[in-house]
Parts: sequence; structure tokens; C-alpha cells
Amino acid sequence: MPYIYFAAGAGNWADYEKPLTEALTRVGIEATLSPELPTDPKKVDYIIYAPVGTMTDFAPFTNCKAVLSLWAGVEKIVHTPSLTQPLARMVNNELTEGMVEYVVGHVLRHHLGMDAHIHGQDGIWRNAIMPPLARERTVAVLGLGELGQASAKALAALNFNVLGWSRSQKSVLGVECHAGDDGLDEVLSRAEIVVLLMPLTPDTTNILDARHLGLLPKGAVIINPGRGPLIDDEALLASLNSGALSHATLDVFRVEPLPTAHPYWAHPRVTVTPHIAADTRVSSACNVLVENIRRGEAGEELLYLVDRARGY
Ligand code: NDP
Ligand code: OXD
Repeated sequence: MPYIYFAAGAGNWADYEKPLTEALTRVGIEATLSPELPTDPKKVDYIIYAPVGTMTDFAPFTNCKAVLSLWAGVEKIVHTPSLTQPLARMVNNELTEGMVEYVVGHVLRHHLGMDAHIHGQDGIWRNAIMPPLARERTVAVLGLGELGQASAKALAALNFNVLGWSRSQKSVLGVECHAGDDGLDEVLSRAEIVVLLMPLTPDTTNILDARHLGLLPKGAVIINPGRGPLIDDEALLASLNSGALSHATLDVFRVEPLPTAHPYWAHPRVTVTPHIAADTRVSSACNVLVENIRRGEAGEELLYLVDRARGY
């Protein structure tokens, strides 16, 4: 009977204990599911992990078949030296739906210039400026994985002119795909709205630096639900202050929660959302965890395995 060590924190345990137990039962897996370590760590078959938990040393778990992350982004665990077990990240339909809705919502806000009306209820009838149609607006999605592709497709379905960029060349219906350094320059030089959906790795850290921000058309908007360090904060603030960029909607930050004194909070051209772009929802997450445990027990290949060398 497999031992599943729930090391994803007390708050998550309160949410997951019942639905995960039920999901295991539904597929006929008899297991011990516990937030407690067994006296012998060698007895652990699976570890359920989240950055909010306290797990840092995976070395004692010599028989562990997999570490299963509740998060999609694994930058906080992937380079842990003692982690030699397979690592699977979270991918599921609800996480993807949440991200698509966040991206589409915030793109439409900027595309339609909604703020002017929401904040401008002053009795003056300003109807002279007609917003462009989506087909006249170019949006770039940087990162064309699970979340980036789904978001890019949703934007393309609304008729936006969508550019995409990824490490390896992709082909996505309705999206003009680019890769490589030259591809990034090309995409940025045309993008009026840029959505960041890349993982945090050494290669993507500060990818939006002063040079790359400088390629964007004047007045461009950044939307970052990826990870905070993808952007050089000083360079972003300088571009916003000079008016080169018109707005940044940021969901993720180098330090979270974003400290109260951080200049982003009070900046008139920044919208802060508190890392809520796409939450892992318990029921769909349980299905993925249980399917991977089922696969592990059956000796089948696990879903959503992280490539340690790439870092995502
Ligand atoms: P995936 O691993 O499926 O996709 C990552 C994409 O980024 C791939 O297209 C990959 O390229 C591309 N990429 C990686 N490195 C580079 C690079 N150096 N240059 C260019 N492109 C690169 O991840 P997901 O789509 O599932 O998630 C993306 C990120 O979203 C997560 O890592 C996490 O940080 C963030 N996230 C944020 C949430 C929130 O609530 N704010 C919720 C969930 C996730 P290639 O296809 O060639 O491999
Ligand atoms: C995730 C996140 O990576 O919530 O799942 O950011």
C-alpha cells in the first residue's frame, strides 16, 4: 500500500485531505495519505509538494517514486540538489481556464481603453475616439506552453493579431510563431500588448531588460502572470515613468506578498494583482495527482514531468 506524504503545508492539507482521499478511493487506490512523516522516510512512495510547505531535503526518501507539485511553476524546487526523484508539475484544465480568462480580461481592458471610462465618470460625453478592433491590435505571448498556447489561441479567436515566442519553434493555429533571439526582437518590436507566460529559469531571468523593453512600440502594455523576475523592475519603472510604456499589469513579483512600500503599489501606470491569475483548484488538481499515482503504481510514465536540465 503506497505511502503518500502530503508535504504541501497545513493550509493545503485542510483543503486536500477529504477530496484527495475520495479521489484515490474512486480509482481504487488503497493508500496511506498523511501530512506526517513515517518514522522511516524510506517508506514514502510519493511526496505532494508546494512551495508553501517546509520540504527542502529529499535525500532521505530513497524509495520515493515521484514528487508531485501542486504548482505549475517549479523554479523553487527544480534545482534542489537532493531532489533526484522524478518531479511532476501541475497542469490541468481549470488552471488553464483561469489563466486564459485572466489574460483575455486584462488584454481587453487595455485594448478597449476601459480605464478612461471607469475612472472618467465626470459628466463629459467623450465619444470622439473609436477603439480599434482586435484585428487591428497586435498582442504578443512570450512562452507557448500549456498556458501560453491556450491564451494565444483565445486571443486569436477574438481576432487579435497574435504573435508568439518560445524557446523551440512552435506551430499554433492563428498565431504567428517565432523563436530564438532574433524572433524575440521581431515580436517585441511589433507588440502593443505583451503577455509573459514563461517559466523562471536562468535564461528567462530579466528577459524583459532595458534593451528588450526599448524595442516595444511607444505606449505598449505589459501583462505579467508568469514570474516576477522575468522583468527587470528598474528598467520597467524607467520605461513607465518616461511614458515609453503606458501600463504594466503585474500578478507576480520578486518578493511576494509585494511589500507595501514597493513603488509598484502607488504607480499610476501599474496594476498589481496578488498572484491570482490562475489558482490550482482542488478537485481538478486531485484528479491529476491521483492519475500520476495510478501511473506510478502501474509502472507507467508519469504526466507533466519536469526536465531538470531545462528547469521547467
Ligand atoms: P510550460 O512549461 O508548459 O511552457 C513554458 C513555455 O515557455 C514554453 O513554450 C517554453 O518554450 C517557453 N520557454 C521556456 N524557456 C524559454 C526561453 N528561454 N526562451 C523562450 N521561451 C522559453 O509552462 P506553463 O505554460 O504551464 O506555465 C508557464 C508559467 O506560468 C509557469 O512556469 C509559472 O511561472 C506561471 N504560472 C503562473 C500562475 C499565476 O497564477 N500567476 C499560475 C500558473 C503558472 P518551449 O515550448 O520551446 O519549451
Ligand atoms: C503556479 C502558480 O505556478 O500558482 O501554479 O504560480
